[in-house]
Amino acid sequence: MSQNDKLNNLEYKLMQFEKNVDAFKDNNDFWTNWENFRNFITHVINKHIVNEYDFKTLAIWGAGRCKDIDLSFFCENFEEVNLFDIKRNDVIEGVKAQNLSQKQLDKIKIHESFDFLDVEDIFYIELKDMFKNKSSVKSITKFIRKQANKVNIQTSLSKVNKQFDVSISLGVHSQLFSDVKHSFDEYLNLYNDEDVSKIGAENRYLHKIGASLYNQFLYNTVRDGGAIFVGFDLIEFSPYRGTLELLDHFKILMAKGEIFEHLDSFLKLGAVLGAYDGYYDFTKSFKDEAIKFPTNFAIWDYFDFHSYFFMTTGIIK
Ligand SMILES: C[S@@+](CC[C@H](N)C(=O)[O-])C[C@H]1O[C@@H](n2cnc3c(N)ncnc32)[C@H](O)[C@@H]1O
Repeated sequence: MSQNDKLNNLEYKLMQFEKNVDAFKDNNDFWTNWENFRNFITHVINKHIVNEYDFKTLAIWGAGRCKDIDLSFFCENFEEVNLFDIKRNDVIEGVKAQNLSQKQLDKIKIHESFDFLDVEDIFYIELKDMFKNKSSVKSITKFIRKQANKVNIQTSLSKVNKQFDVSISLGVHSQLFSDVKHSFDEYLNLYNDEDVSKIGAENRYLHKIGASLYNQFLYNTVRDGGAIFVGFDLIEFSPYRGTLELLDHFKILMAKGEIFEHLDSFLKLGAVLGAYDGYYDFTKSFKDEAIKFPTNFAIWDYFDFHSYFFMTTGIIK
């Protein structure tokens, strides 16, 4: 199908997408569709970590359905592959789907579910009720602020209770509070523009705090001399953000090696909440670490008509 045909289908696809986003996700063959992205991830980790160091224990945070993670590669190159996610069942399904050998499976440890930031489900349930009942903006922002001030990593670190040679996190910073976004999107039409912007600002605050604490969490999960490797879905190209038509231009700039000169302009239009905060906090917080991996980047085609500019970096602690 040509790009034009695809665009002509856009409206139909969007309707389908909005109608049943979960069914769309379940039916989408992410393993096949994310092949290029997964190969990019494998390539940069091979280059900066596997080829350079002799690390043995690995933790992947937010492993989810493991569609961006080639587990056989990790099992061949590490003695222990620890997988963590709040959705443990997704990880179980994800591992199963990769048809690993028994020898590879013996190296994999799927850990109990827990929220890296110790957010309780009740927060999301109550917040959704507040949106649904059109609670005042003041009470909503107060409620979100209270949660932001409560976020902590001590509980989750004590659950991990171990440090690894390598910690990897891919596209997690943007998802730390994704349920807030989903429930807000659902009831957005109940609020006027001014309210939306006040709630949005509070949501940004929550993501900023969360992304920064999550970086500290990752740092603490690694022993001295170990590696922290992170990837951020920094810029969204989608019809929802009105940025899809900029993607071709962006790709040309990437090919010419001119992306960083223009990054701020694109960020103004399509920065992803949490990812953007996480990236800037990571580079600022760990600027004094002796060894930093160079940034690598790729376009991550997430769905049709929905891509991200994905950037990886990392440090040796
Ligand atoms: C973008 S996905 C990573 C992609 C994933 N590897 C896949 O193939 O599906 C981010 C993952 O982080 C997990 N996650 C997000 N916030 C979390 C939190 N606060 N605690 C634990 N896991 C979290 C999500 O459940 C999700 O699986």
